Amino acid sequence: MASSAVPIKSGTIVTIERHILEQQRYHPEATGVLTSLLYDLALAGKMIASQMSKAGLAQILGKTGDVNIQGEQVMKLDKLADETITNLNDHTGRLAVMASEEHEDIIHIPDKYPVGKYVLLFDPLDGSSNIDYNTGVGTIFAIYQRVSAENTRGTMEDCLQPGRKLVAAGYIVYGASTMFVYSTGEGVHGFTLDPSIGEFLLSHEDIRIPANPTYYSVNQGYFTRWSTGVQKYTQHLQELTSETSAISMRYVGSMAVDFHRTLLAGGIFYYPADTSKPEGKLRLAYEAIPLAFIAEQAGGYGSNGNRNILDIKPENIHQRTPLYIGSRELVTLVESYIKKYD
Ligand code: AHG
Ligand code: MN
Ligand code: MN
Repeated sequence: MASSAVPIKSGTIVTIERHILEQQRYHPEATGVLTSLLYDLALAGKMIASQMSKAGLAQILGKTGDVNIQGEQVMKLDKLADETITNLNDHTGRLAVMASEEHEDIIHIPDKYPVGKYVLLFDPLDGSSNIDYNTGVGTIFAIYQRVSAENTRGTMEDCLQPGRKLVAAGYIVYGASTMFVYSTGEGVHGFTLDPSIGEFLLSHEDIRIPANPTYYSVNQGYFTRWSTGVQKYTQHLQELTSETSAISMRYVGSMAVDFHRTLLAGGIFYYPADTSKPEGKLRLAYEAIPLAFIAEQAGGYGSNGNRNILDIKPENIHQRTPLYIGSRELVTLVESYIKKYD
């Protein structure tokens, strides 16, 4: 019989709830609200994973027929994931305001519910063009403290904060298993959902991104649209060897999943600006910033090609950015190629 794969830390089982509570002890001033908010996000992850596992049976594959603010087709699961996160968080009194990839404007807390001190930004379903093909997708989130006055409805300014102000960030990947990865600024920790008990259990403690690259990850189909610096950098990666073998290329097309592999295996994920997307494709506030925070907390680095993503204050909620993220040396190297050739 297969042995049980319950993650054990020093002889004990660590649920996500226990871990978040233990992290809270690093912050004696903490009131427990952030702990509850993270736990609400883990619950959203479980609910989205459950919906996802029925895709193909329930009528939730395919497009809704709507086009979102990004000009992209909204998939039914995009909408379901967005509603799940919004509904679980609009009434708790923990949030001042939310913002999502799927909403043009910020999401106000309804007047009938109390407001709190945190701000939640999220990409409810990342990689949704992959949904119909049974491929891994994710959810990405960022949490800030409000900057607007307490006990008022949150504002756009609350949502336009640089990554340096993050209180917590993370992502959930829905793949062969469901994983929740988060940081509150005390390292990066990963949990795997045990579907038989419905709990996330600590499986990846204090993740550090390996310096030695295993993979690079980019949509090389766009090679001819890139700048000279990005092209030359990519050719350099193709010539690099890691110990004895060449570096492999892997690209799923769901950033949360591509980033997750980069974090665990070492390497770089990038989505450059190109001639058809001069600002890049990925969104600064709810895709690039939270993942750059996770990368930095794991010893890696996220850049827009010129500067640290975490130092950039978004000017609008749906602003796009080029992104280079992963092992620190590989990201600083692409910055030097861009500086030299572009
Ligand atoms: P989303 O599904 O949230 O709109 O994000 C899709 C993004 C990202 O996950 C991925 O890295 C990228 O789009 C893939 O784009 P290409 O198909 O152009 O490679
Ligand atoms: Mn996305
Ligand atoms: Mn999305």
